[in-house]
Amino acid sequence: HVSALTDRFGRRVSYLRLSVTDRCDLRCSYCMPKGFSGFEEPENWLRFDEIERVVAAFSRMGVARVRLTGGEPLLRRNLPQLVSRLSQLPGLQDISLSTNATQLHKHARALRDAGVSRINVSLDSLDKACMQQITGRDSFGSIMAGLQAGKQAGFMPIKLNMVVMRGVNDHEISRMARFCFEEGFILRLIETMPMGATGRDSQYLDIGPVREQLVREFDLVPAAAELGGGPARYWSTRDGRGTIGFISPISQHFCATCNRVRLSVDGTLYMCLGQDEKFALRPLLRAGISDAGLDAAIRSAIELKPERHEFTEQPLKIVRFMSQTGG
Ligand code: GTP
Ligand code: 5AD
Ligand code: SF4
Repeated sequence: HVSALTDRFGRRVSYLRLSVTDRCDLRCSYCMPKGFSGFEEPENWLRFDEIERVVAAFSRMGVARVRLTGGEPLLRRNLPQLVSRLSQLPGLQDISLSTNATQLHKHARALRDAGVSRINVSLDSLDKACMQQITGRDSFGSIMAGLQAGKQAGFMPIKLNMVVMRGVNDHEISRMARFCFEEGFILRLIETMPMGATGRDSQYLDIGPVREQLVREFDLVPAAAELGGGPARYWSTRDGRGTIGFISPISQHFCATCNRVRLSVDGTLYMCLGQDEKFALRPLLRAGISDAGLDAAIRSAIELKPERHEFTEQPLKIVRFMSQTGG
């Protein structure tokens, strides 16, 4: 076994987020700017065999969790085939998926059978018109169908990601909590990260006070168990049947315990969601680099990982849109 991946700040990298496409069938306002057209050309997409080599390298160095993201990952053709191949890699313990669920009714069963263990679904509102406004499409019905299919395929508890936007969906938080408690979903409330035209500053809402209000309303206590491998902090109802996770990259950032890097569809490793540091793996893969060379390249890339994001520094800098690195 090769030694673990650790960065300059002593943080162990144990979680790889893998974007399998930068395309999406929705246009969520916080993710992709209006009229965006800078998509990668198909010849620059990592092929499944290339993705498998990169994931194998990470798993050799102790990465046990991989999350498939996008864009919308279900738009990548034959995704269950990729999952089957990854699930055979020794060392990987957790293959998860973050999806908008519009196509989930078609793929839930095959993904489950292929080895996806957990799914997180983006849902920002329970109101059809509000969802149309946020996602730019008539998406609500297909997402609801996708959630039911996910339930039936054995993915419960599914986590629902709600990006909280002031004046857009913040009035729906209690209702969303009740809906999740009834349906058995884990609700996660996420602070908007400012990224140029997306994740607008004017819509930012500190979720600290929101948490205090929910703690009072539902008599929540800090959750006993850890759920997944991400930055959310969880609170539960006293009977343990309802759980809400809080993700606060702005008001209380969690960079000191960051455990992850991101691989984009074109084979670039991004060291941080809110910073520029990156390392291009595709040229090495296509030049026929050895496994040992690939491991060394990844180790040198991890050296570039910055201490933290600078989302709140002025003037605001736009690094990348979420659709390009997968949130
Ligand atoms: P679990 O393994 O289930 O905990 O997954 P996760 O919460 O890491 O994944 P998901 O794709 O559902 O991400 C939820 C939200 O957390 C997204 O809005 C991400 O943008 C945000 N998030 C996840 N990881 C990071 C991170 O490293 N930095 C920042 N700033 N935000 C993150
Ligand atoms: N700020 C916060 N969260 C975001 N996501 C996408 N863009 C942003 C942003 N600007 C979240 C979505 C999705 C997850 C993968 O990333 O809620 O569920
Ligand atoms: Fe890690 Fe960057 Fe996210 Fe902070 S903002 S948790 S350093 S990826």
